[in-house]
Order: sequence, then structure tokens, then C-alpha cells
Amino acid sequence: MDSSEFLGFLTSRSSVRQYGHDSISNDDVTFILDCASTAPSAGNLEAWDVVIVTDEDTRLGLKDAAFGQDHIGQAAMILVVCANYIRSMSKYGERGILYAIEDATIACTYMMLAAHARQLNSCWTGAFDEEEVRSLLQLPQHIRPISLLAVGKGYPPASLTERMAIADHLHHEQW
Ligand SMILES: Cc1cc2nc3c(=O)[nH]c(=O)nc-3n(C[C@H](O)[C@H](O)[C@H](O)COP(=O)(O)O)c2cc1C
Repeated sequence: MDSSEFLGFLTSRSSVRQYGHDSISNDDVTFILDCASTAPSAGNLEAWDVVIVTDEDTRLGLKDAAFGQDHIGQAAMILVVCANYIRSMSKYGERGILYAIEDATIACTYMMLAAHARQLNSCWTGAFDEEEVRSLLQLPQHIRPISLLAVGKGYPPASLTERMAIADHLHHEQW
């Protein structure tokens, strides 16, 4: 893949919030997780974990926890990507909290792009009640859910989401 193909790959992805009833193959799941495991992480500690949810009742429970967002109930699979505080804090102390969140965020990004590479759709979902997710999935206290990544075959929006002008992000040499 050359650089313009890479940019085309990135720009052709968009968050999808409507899904059909197709399931996801084991090969797709394995591919997505293999890609996530190549993500960089602080101290190479990989302070992230993921709960793979395909059970319909659990997906509907996650939908409730996500304030009723329909795509969470519709998508074939929800990857609940979590920060593992103990794994990172055992080496980095308090700083490990931030590193674990960063590790989980990067891993989730890789999963999202891996799904796109398999012609699957996804939607990163950050608006949810943490305690509800924690209780539904029986997450231990040191595990913080960061994202509900909905993955499935869906209906992408007709037009891609607009972006800020790059110049609006930039600061040269100092703020
Ligand atoms: C941290 C984070 C939280 C998000 N939370 C939600 C969410 O709760 N519900 C939702 O529909 N989309 C959510 N999104 C998706 C964004 O709305 C989406 O990425 C953004 O509008 C840009 O659109 P695009 O992904 O189609 O390029 C979230 C994305 C990120 C990175």
C-alpha cells in the first residue's frame, strides 16, 4: 500500500450507526485481535483487555448502559475495550493510570481500522454508564471500560464526516 492508498483507506472509514443481521466470522475476530496486539503500549505492557460480546441479551444490556444508542443493540459484536490499571501501575505507579487509558485507546483504534480493512463497519462508542457496564460484564475494579466498539456489517452514511481545517490544530514551536 502506498501513502495515497493509506490516506484513502483512512478517509473511506466512517462511524456506522445502523447494522443488519449478519454475524461476524471467527477469522474476522481473529484478524481484528491480531491487529490490536501489534499496537504500541507503554513499556510494552499492553495494559488493555477486551470483552467480546455477541450474546443478544448482553448487547441489549450494553445498549441500555449506552443510554439507548441503537447501534449497540444492532451490531453483531461489541468489543468492550478496557484499560487494565494494575498491569500498568505495577511498573509506573500513578502514571500507569494514564498509560493504561492510552494503551486501551490505541488498541481500540487498531481494532477499528482492522475492522475497516475486513470491510466491516464500526462505531466507537464512548457515551455509556461505566458502573452499568462494569456490573453487566462483572469487570473487576482495576478494569476500566474505555470504549464499546460496535462491529458489524452496516449501512455507512451517504457522506463522510467533515473535519476541522488542519491549520486549526497547529501550533508552531510554542502554543
Ligand atoms: C472517544 C470517542 C467517543 C465516541 N462516542 C460516541 C458515542 O457515544 N456514540 C456515537 O454514536 N459515536 C461516538 N463516537 C464516534 C464519533 O462521533 C465519530 O468518530 C466522529 O463524529 C467522526 O465521525 P467518523 O468516525 O464517521 O469519521 C465517539 C468517538 C470517539 C473517538
